Amino acid sequence: MDLEKAARDVRENAYVPYSRFKVGAALRAPSGKIYAGCNVENVAYPEGTCAEAGAIAAMVAAGETEIAEAYVIADSAHPVPPCGGCRQKLAEFARGDTPVTLATVDGGTLETTVAELLPGAFGAGHMDRT
Ligand code: THU
Repeated sequence: MDLEKAARDVRENAYVPYSRFKVGAALRAPSGKIYAGCNVENVAYPEGTCAEAGAIAAMVAAGETEIAEAYVIADSAHPVPPCGGCRQKLAEFARGDTPVTLATVDGGTLETTVAELLPGAFGAGHMDRT
């Protein structure tokens, strides 16, 4: 299964009674395995989780901690950019040059990278005073 199909398929399962905006995300680890996640909303709105967070959780639960490539898809006029929190979550497990494809269900795509999405990302090195 390729990244796009995984993201498209999992998007169908998004639980979005409040926004009605389904998002699917798929990550490929260096092992070649693909991990997918969808957004899961909650009546207490801030408790909802993004598709990217779900895919990351699936990857980590499976014992992997590296993202080689990411794909995010939604039904929007233009490829939807990940929210700020998800950019930081992706950066935790990716390199700056890790490719990220943002896509629409109609076939629109925008190719970017983790560093382009989150320039100047906070990293562990920023806690080091030496
Ligand atoms: N959402 C995602 O899952 N990923 C994104 O990259 C953008 C936004 C979700 C959160 C919420 O369930 C809905 O889209 C509307 O904000």
